[in-house]
Amino acid sequence: MAIIKAPRGTNDVLPQDSYKWRYIESVADKTAETAGYKEIRFPTFEETELFTRGVGDTTDIVQKEMYTFEDKGGRSMTLRPEGTASAVRLSLENGLLGGTLPLKLYYKINVFRYDKPQAGRYREFNQIGMELYGATSPFSDAELISLAKLFLENLGIEGTLLKINSIGCPKCRAEYQNALREYFTAHLNELCDTCKGRLQRNPMRILDCKSPQDIALAKNAPKITDYLCEECREHYSAVKTALDSVGISYEEDSGLVRGLDYYTKTVFEFIDTNSGLAVAAGGRYDGLIEELGGKPTPGIGFACGVERLFPLIPDFGKDTAPDIYIASMGPAAAKAAFETAAALRKNGIKAETDLMSRSVKAQMKYADKTGARFTAVIGDEELEKGAADIRDMESGETVKADFRNIPELTAILKNEIHICD
Ligand code: HAM
Repeated sequence: MAIIKAPRGTNDVLPQDSYKWRYIESVADKTAETAGYKEIRFPTFEETELFTRGVGDTTDIVQKEMYTFEDKGGRSMTLRPEGTASAVRLSLENGLLGGTLPLKLYYKINVFRYDKPQAGRYREFNQIGMELYGATSPFSDAELISLAKLFLENLGIEGTLLKINSIGCPKCRAEYQNALREYFTAHLNELCDTCKGRLQRNPMRILDCKSPQDIALAKNAPKITDYLCEECREHYSAVKTALDSVGISYEEDSGLVRGLDYYTKTVFEFIDTNSGLAVAAGGRYDGLIEELGGKPTPGIGFACGVERLFPLIPDFGKDTAPDIYIASMGPAAAKAAFETAAALRKNGIKAETDLMSRSVKAQMKYADKTGARFTAVIGDEELEKGAADIRDMESGETVKADFRNIPELTAILKNEIHICD
């Protein structure tokens, strides 16, 4: 019978790679901790309305990419396509916004988008995101941008390109959208079919279109930065000054509009210049909390695409290996090896034994493959004397030890007793 394969656009994490995921997650934890962000966890699915209202029903995500289903109770549910709307929902539902502000949150989640699978673009992928609520200060925009950068740097990733823009507030954006409509209407026949549909509903999305003729048209389109109101212009300028003051270089890109409807003022993306893909992206969203039923409260955040980080990370450190492999000859020795390993594990020692009734040679081959730091062989003689040679696989040195004396064995394996002393 043919095996069943994973759905298109999804990825398995294999045993030899899982330590790399743990490494990235631990760097995320440490980075978040340095700035006082606390982890949150929320459901994989939410009521569909959270995303239609939160992400925006004119976005590609809501229109084309959501995994929406009716549950057995007839309610419309959606697998989360991102984390920002859920983080706001969690904060509102649990009264977190009535507590100490600013509220600083982060999350490590899988998300789902029915996108066209290709390199770096999946249907289930992982995001690490950070969100800040309650602050309007330009320093808060700069903090989130600098934390995204710090996270990349802590992973050893250098040389991404930071692009920033301001897309203004609803007030100045309305005027800008009219200007865009006017401009693109004059070029209506040159627009791709999708963008013809976007023209009335959300003309800024045309600036993000990947079709060559629309990219060419967008080059001469009116620029949002020429339409910013005074408050938005001052805010944008102060964000740039704050970034300059901490030595973060950036490129301004007036075509950066982002694909989610909730953004206001600052938006940004960190681009991997080799693939051209964004590895992290975010922005300010001062209207979202109110849109989702809360009191008017500003918000800002970003999310990193974890799969896209992998090719850029120079060193994941090492996977863990057993501290000791205890080989055995015969059933009585196998029992002793099993008991010793079980007792050592209680002391936090990583110990393995034979579970396949293999020859000692085959057991040692297995031990070698696992990268065990020490090995021991228990046979009839060792059983009789109660002692076995503990071999340091790096130096080849051995020391005799009572394999039933767990404290002594633990001390040897923790290098508290040196073999060659
Ligand atoms: P986003 O730009 O849609 O923003 O996604 C954030 C990151 O997820 C992207 O920069 C990219 O690295 C990764 N990503 C997006 N789509 C895919 C895909 N199909 N396959 C693999 N990786 C992908 C958001 O989701 C916002 N919630 C970010 C945010 C947080 N804004 C404010 N707070």
